[in-house]
Amino acid sequence: MFNIAIDGPAGAGKSTIARRVAKALSYIYVDTGAMYRAMALYLIRQGISPQDERAIQEACASARISIAYVDGEQQVLLNDENVTPYLRQEAVGNMASASSGNRKVREKLVELQQQLAARENVVMDGRDIGTQVLPEAQVKIYLTASAHTRARRRFLELEQKGLTADLKQIEEDINQRDYQDMHREISPLRQAEDAVLVDSSDMTIDEVVEAILSLCRERGV
Ligand code: DC
Repeated sequence: MFNIAIDGPAGAGKSTIARRVAKALSYIYVDTGAMYRAMALYLIRQGISPQDERAIQEACASARISIAYVDGEQQVLLNDENVTPYLRQEAVGNMASASSGNRKVREKLVELQQQLAARENVVMDGRDIGTQVLPEAQVKIYLTASAHTRARRRFLELEQKGLTADLKQIEEDINQRDYQDMHREISPLRQAEDAVLVDSSDMTIDEVVEAILSLCRERGV
């Protein structure tokens, strides 16, 4: 199997890029953040606090998470309910960032991710794909952009949806999320030694996709 790992901080454009690369190669796109978000949604629904390690561990036994593809788009199922429409909310993202530091949560979801990658050619994005989940991936990318650029992109995205947002607040949230993801004890976000750094601050989406595809060609993917 050929596996491509794309890691990086929140808002770097991983999912847009990974989806495009997967399409170009006819690989399956696996969004691992959505799995952590589904687990987070379960915790929110159960009224579990992100600080309650024990309750989170217990919840891992009763939350069944699986993925399916509809028209090539990943859907996340939580105890057989398709929860994909609820996963992008800010509250779910914040809970995912907090609860993803839990060892049991990670064990459970990493296993699911490894099973998928063993069966299919995948482009998988997340925080620990190149370092922990798929250490043997043929291509590893660390995709980043400055916090300011990422905040601006998010701001414009919200504006396009007709929502008002505060750029400064978004940048603060991004910095806080980065700190949390990079400083947790288990599988913190970091660039794998053999990953190629791509800083998209001054690149278009097409340029980033092309840079990754050209690397894939070099590696015989
Ligand atoms: O990429 P995202 O914003 O959908 O991810 C939501 C949270 O899930 C993120 O703050 C950290 C966590 N996450 C993780 O710990 N490991 C991954 N492989 C993917 C996401």
